[in-house]
Amino acid sequence: MKVLVIGGDGYCGWATALYLSNRGYDVGILDSLVRRHWDLELGVETLTPISSIHQRIQKWQKLTGKQIDLFVGDINNYDFLQKSLREFQPEAVVHFGEQRSAPFSMIDREHAVLTQTNNVIGNLNLLYALRDDFPDCHLVKLGTMGEYGTPNIDIEEGYITIEHNGRTDTLPYPKQPGSFYHLSKVHDSHNIQFACKVWGLRATDLNQGVVYGVLTEETGMDEMLINRLDYDAIYGTALNRFCIQAAIGHPLTVYGKGGQTRTFLDIRDTIRCVELAISTPAKSGEFRVFNQFTEMFSINDLALKVKQAGIALGLDVEINTIDNPRVEAEEHYFNAKNTNLLNLGLQPHFLSDSLLDSLLNFAIKYQHRIDRAHILPKVNWKRL
Ligand SMILES: NC(=O)c1ccc[n+]([C@@H]2O[C@H](COP(=O)([O-])OP(=O)(O)OC[C@H]3O[C@@H](n4cnc5c(N)ncnc54)[C@H](O)[C@@H]3O)[C@@H](O)[C@H]2O)c1
Repeated sequence: MKVLVIGGDGYCGWATALYLSNRGYDVGILDSLVRRHWDLELGVETLTPISSIHQRIQKWQKLTGKQIDLFVGDINNYDFLQKSLREFQPEAVVHFGEQRSAPFSMIDREHAVLTQTNNVIGNLNLLYALRDDFPDCHLVKLGTMGEYGTPNIDIEEGYITIEHNGRTDTLPYPKQPGSFYHLSKVHDSHNIQFACKVWGLRATDLNQGVVYGVLTEETGMDEMLINRLDYDAIYGTALNRFCIQAAIGHPLTVYGKGGQTRTFLDIRDTIRCVELAISTPAKSGEFRVFNQFTEMFSINDLALKVKQAGIALGLDVEINTIDNPRVEAEEHYFNAKNTNLLNLGLQPHFLSDSLLDSLLNFAIKYQHRIDRAHILPKVNWKRL
């Protein structure tokens, strides 16, 4: 099957592209490389030194004999997008190619507008390009569990059946996103659902939890295939960030009360979930939603786990509570369903001591690359 991975130079996209290529899929990567540009603009760097996309792909071909086609450009450029799709002729498109940081989207008006135009218009362009040339192609789109917010009832997978004034209907699950980034994902979901309804496209929205980990079988084959590991306060996700803080003796920074509960998954499960989605495509006209995560933890739970793993490695780990720069409930009910992917055969890699060990060892190995100036949050949700 021909699979185009949009955003294939990024954290999830790179691991997915290599995994699918290794499994015999014919893979293309489309990426504008804008994430590398945003890193430069913010003055941040991934902890792990990543090679250029060209070097990465060459190394992959040398090691495995497998070719990955590369299309460098922006999906907001419709001509480029259409031309690339026509050249590659995808049967499935996996769309990771968005601005994905909530703090980035909350820096100021410019970054909010950039996030929403980049994400919403890029995705809308893709829907039109599929409608016009590849109406049968399966779109697998990365959404986020953050679209739902933290409602005081169980979170279903995309839809909820409601009884109201004696009548019953199954409706999109209510969305209460927590940043302009998360809002862009909600807008994407609505646009995709509408396109499936009116044009008969087939799509799967993967509402993904927070991803952690750096190693997959493929990215671990050679130093030149290494994946990115973000630790800064803009792009670093909670667990990756805590491990890096522990490695350099910086207190773990828990925002507010730390009772914020979120969903998580190992990068090795991200790539498997994508494969499960593309190998059992949505039907024509169907907008399918899967909640893509394996476990739920509060931020306090995570900090404690990292502290325990750090102490076992001889590190001195302290946990600090700092003012929460975000506006969010810090103690709340949270229970989300995730049975769709498990029913398709996902066998989760749960967060284990050995995974924490491996993350901490990465952090120790590359600690000379850590810039302490980027650890504490500088973006505040309120206008301070
Ligand atoms: N990392 C997580 O924990 C996480 C959690 C939930 C959802 N997601 C979603 O998964 C996707 C991938 O996340 P990631 O962590 O790999 O992000 P990332 O920033 O590492 O990768 C995104 C890639 O998309 C590319 N890109 C962005 N805009 C583009 C455009 N207009 N045209 C072409 N390429 C473009 C970037 O250059 C980058 O290489 C995102 O959509 C994100 O919202 C990620």
